[in-house]
Amino acid sequence: MKVTVVGAGNVGATCANVIAHNELANEVILLDIKEGIAEGKSLDIWQTAPINLYDTRVKGSTNDYAATAGSDVVVITSGLPRKPGMSRDDLIATNAGIVKSVTENIIKYSPNTIIIVVSNPLDVMTYCAYLNSGLDSKKVFGMAGILDTARYRAFLAEALNCSPKDIQAILMGGHGDTMVPLPRYTTVSGIPVTELISADKLEAIVQRTKVGGGELVNLMGTSAWYAPGAAAAQMVEAIVRDQKRIYPVCAWLQGEYGMKDIYLGVPVKLGKNGIEEIIELHLNDAEKLLLTNSATAVKEVMSVLDNM
Ligand code: NAI
Ligand code: 2OP
Repeated sequence: MKVTVVGAGNVGATCANVIAHNELANEVILLDIKEGIAEGKSLDIWQTAPINLYDTRVKGSTNDYAATAGSDVVVITSGLPRKPGMSRDDLIATNAGIVKSVTENIIKYSPNTIIIVVSNPLDVMTYCAYLNSGLDSKKVFGMAGILDTARYRAFLAEALNCSPKDIQAILMGGHGDTMVPLPRYTTVSGIPVTELISADKLEAIVQRTKVGGGELVNLMGTSAWYAPGAAAAQMVEAIVRDQKRIYPVCAWLQGEYGMKDIYLGVPVKLGKNGIEEIIELHLNDAEKLLLTNSATAVKEVMSVLDNM
């Protein structure tokens, strides 16, 4: 298995490191446009192999896409991150140009690859990669839901003073403040979370999750990378190991949830073919309304891309 990570910044380098550490591929190519950065970070990661005891070969490339040839999976993290005061949508003009050129170059050398987009604004950058790849939509999707759900699960584990391993949850919608955490589909070892926490505390956690990315931007002056990098690597794992894991993923909807021609976070089954199934939950009216509002917000930014 060969995996390419485009963008050797905070998220890309973290993702490559997790992929290597967990031996998810024989070879990982880390590519960046900045001279030497991908080579340097790859060398540093590779030098952890004798310490962490893995064989995955990590190699860097400064914008030479020939090195990425024959990749089974490509993770796109190239692009500007948010600074304090910016929304993810503020990044669209710059990042759309980057994601378009990266996608075109990737497809030249790996025409049958699976693409996982991480760059923001996530839902629209995934749409951008889809438009420019010519691939089936089952092979182009975005990472956000695993990260947003992880934040929600981490907050719940803290509030309940229990292991985060025992918290299962699903979250839907766009990767923005309109995202839709779903308490009705949240359990702690099978126990509905609503039996373990007051409605007020749960609502506070839902609200904190929605602005979880912004909380980190305000603390660090740039956006997060450990959890985003690990989340993207978890999607790579589901694909390269054909695990059929069910995760919230930004997927192209063609009638599911009554929506068409939109990239939006929904539960999917991930395996060797990419998205193998989109799972339709029986949402109640309140949940449907939240999802529709989130879709409206995503569509607005998609139309900015369409008109660029
Ligand atoms: P970063 O600034 O640390 O790294 C971005 C890297 O992309 C830089 O090294 C830059 O040189 C490279 N780059 C820029 N143009 C390129 C091109 N044309 N070809 C190859 N490389 C290029 O940023 P960070 O923190 O790694 O974030 C990356 C992106 O991921 C941002 O857009 C950020 O908003 C997004 N993000 C998305 C998350 C999600 O849940 N979907 C979570 C966290 C970040
Ligand atoms: C995050 O949620 C900014 O999308 C990035 O951390």
